Amino acid sequence: MIEKVKVGENLELSRVVHGLMRLSSWEMTSQEILELIEGCIELGVTSFDHADIYGAYTCEELFGKALALKPSLRERIQLVTKCGIKLISSNRPEHKVKHYDTSKKHIIESVERSLKNLETDYIDLLLIHRPDPFMNPDEVSDAFNQLKKEGKVLNYGVSNFKPSQFDMLSSRLDTPLVTNQIEVSPLNFENFDNGSIEKCKQKGIPPMVWSPLAGGSIFNSNEDKVSRVRRTFEEIREEVGAPSIDYIIYAWILNHPANMIPIVGSGKLERIKVAVEAVKIKLTRQQWFRVWESSMGREVD
Ligand SMILES: NC(=O)c1ccc[n+]([C@@H]2O[C@H](COP(=O)([O-])OP(=O)(O)OC[C@H]3O[C@@H](n4cnc5c(N)ncnc54)[C@H](OP(=O)(O)O)[C@@H]3O)[C@@H](O)[C@H]2O)c1
Repeated sequence: MIEKVKVGENLELSRVVHGLMRLSSWEMTSQEILELIEGCIELGVTSFDHADIYGAYTCEELFGKALALKPSLRERIQLVTKCGIKLISSNRPEHKVKHYDTSKKHIIESVERSLKNLETDYIDLLLIHRPDPFMNPDEVSDAFNQLKKEGKVLNYGVSNFKPSQFDMLSSRLDTPLVTNQIEVSPLNFENFDNGSIEKCKQKGIPPMVWSPLAGGSIFNSNEDKVSRVRRTFEEIREEVGAPSIDYIIYAWILNHPANMIPIVGSGKLERIKVAVEAVKIKLTRQQWFRVWESSMGREVD
């Protein structure tokens, strides 16, 4: 069992979150999805990350059908979902161009659909999926206040927001943003460089981290950089005595002082278990920087 991380006044997420972006590709029955949810809960992975658009608008419903087989599980889990992207999809023929929509109307409609699809009365954490260049922050604030008052959304956050975007939206809200969900992996340092991780530290909020294994490419890409990073992880794996490098990749994220919460994207329980076991692995500062060096292809200045 892993510990929980306090994310805001009234919300705790599990130290490792399970992500459902790929759920529709796993071709699982509702019963199999239910077993996966129960397996996660047994490991202490009680928080599940969704978005309205995952699986071309299908993943939330697949999850909801599984949850409906055992509604008593709802109070043991935390549901995170997102809104704000409109995809071109046969499920949404009215979308002629992929775009963002953070209007009050869209946020409310999207949440109503998520509640229905997930077969729940409330969402623990709603994120604005991407910064929207056409955003009216006062409309976002109105939508958040209404949904909170109705008990439909308990907490709010953002995803992929740069520090200035985070500050701008925060300044108009009556409720604090409790996380920024950002991409971090040993192959992607963008959020170390653009101030997003510092912003989370400044605000004292844990970032949720997407694609911690670089979407799986860290295992199979033949690019020079990736081969170099894999070799470094292999060396550290031997030093630590872990069974495979995925343990060390998760540990590299979990050891970071920003209290990053990795979102595991695998549908296989044994792979989710790897992330859970990685919580116990302590890396030295020098091991952490060896990964930095192999990814950047140079030593620090
Ligand atoms: N906010 C955002 O903008 C945003 C964007 C993207 C994702 N997300 C969230 O982050 C979650 C995780 O993203 P992700 O799925 O890209 O994460 P990831 O964990 O980096 O990648 C998952 C992929 O890696 C493969 N994999 C895992 N362990 C492996 C191993 N040992 N060997 C080979 N392949 C392995 C998985 O395959 P198997 O399934 O076969 O194990 C899966 O295809 C998503 O589900 C979603 O909730 C958020």
